[in-house]
Amino acid sequence: MNIFTRRKPQPTPDAGLPDSMAVISALPVPVVVLDAENRFCSANPAAEQFFQLSFSSLAQISLKELIPEDSRLFALVDQVRGQDAPVSDHDLTLESPRLHRTGVAAHGAPLPELPGAVVLTLQDGSKAQKLDRQLNFRGAARGASAMAAMLAHEVKNPLSGIRGAAQLLEQSASEDDRELCVLIQDEADRIRNLVERMEMFSDRPIEQGAVNIHEVLDHVRRIAGRGFASHLRIVEDYDPSLPPVWGNRDFLIQILLNLVKNAAEAVDPQNGEIVLSTAYHHGVRIAVPGSKERVHLPLQVSVRDNGPGIEEDVRATLWEPFVTTKQGGQGLGLAMVAKLVADQGALIECDSRPGRTVFRLSLPMPPADLPASLETRTE
Ligand SMILES: Nc1ncnc2c1ncn2[C@@H]1O[C@H](COP(=O)(O)OP(=O)(O)OP(=O)(O)O)[C@@H](O)[C@H]1O
Ligand SMILES: [Mg+2]
Repeated sequence: MNIFTRRKPQPTPDAGLPDSMAVISALPVPVVVLDAENRFCSANPAAEQFFQLSFSSLAQISLKELIPEDSRLFALVDQVRGQDAPVSDHDLTLESPRLHRTGVAAHGAPLPELPGAVVLTLQDGSKAQKLDRQLNFRGAARGASAMAAMLAHEVKNPLSGIRGAAQLLEQSASEDDRELCVLIQDEADRIRNLVERMEMFSDRPIEQGAVNIHEVLDHVRRIAGRGFASHLRIVEDYDPSLPPVWGNRDFLIQILLNLVKNAAEAVDPQNGEIVLSTAYHHGVRIAVPGSKERVHLPLQVSVRDNGPGIEEDVRATLWEPFVTTKQGGQGLGLAMVAKLVADQGALIECDSRPGRTVFRLSLPMPPADLPASLETRTE
């Protein structure tokens, strides 16, 4: 029996709530349940459409009759069973005569009620593109790094000459002219600041180590609380058992400071709230460019705010440099975040709607063969 579409709603104590099977059946995302032998036990209408087979036909076959057995989807399903935990793969290609070639984001989770069974959602290519857009922060970061190196090289030296000359002139200038000399120096400082921010984009070797992310968050919270977010509520929602992350402490501080600053600038000064959270998620894996390897990024750090959400017209280019809606904004914060995240082999995603914007950073664990003495190092 297809539990998603064939079951009559069961009376429950929560009589006001819709039946959960009816909800799954109404979802536009294909959802199937596979039994321990990978036979289809259930499929919602979106899955019937995805596989172009009715549930009564799907019920006669197993997954391997639809998808070649060497597909990574089977590895994902086995992993869910082996770890008894959810696993995701954001970048899977399913190839078969029936499906042709389809890019999907697959998510599998165990179903405790049915031993060995796995609930599988397959988000098709166009939806997975949303994630692509989130991943395009890598491309944005590459473009910016060449420009940064050029800018830093060409601008910094003449600029310090200009500033020095204005400082010298100031000593012998009249009252009125002195004001102009100060203006030149201030503007030169502003340009130097901008160039120094841009310099962060250039490709420098990065040192990674085991970092205590709660110590980093605490540091960021203190800087924010004493400065730009002193008027706001900052809530901490941490998983204290989280192991160290593999990354660069300074980069992580830069990333989180930029995210918290954006959140602080977005929320209402009267009732703005920023939530910093950490959690362990089994499932997140990303492909390493140019290799078949997939990196496991189970350590999640989120910065959430209750502001109005990201404006529609900046969403598509969110991670690119010089994209800003703020008066006086440089539009460099998120471009820098993108660069520093990519340098650490991590992933950043953003979900935003009015009243709730979340930037979610997924980080790797330290390599398994790291000496135990380094594991507790907080740098
Ligand atoms: N939490 C948020 N809520 C709403 N909009 C946001 C949020 N974070 C970023 N944005 C939008 O993304 C744009 C780009 O952010 P980014 O940090 O790159 O630049 P900026 O904050 O405008 O300037 P800079 O960081 O260089 O001072 C912002 O101008 C804003 O429109
Ligand atoms: Mg910013």
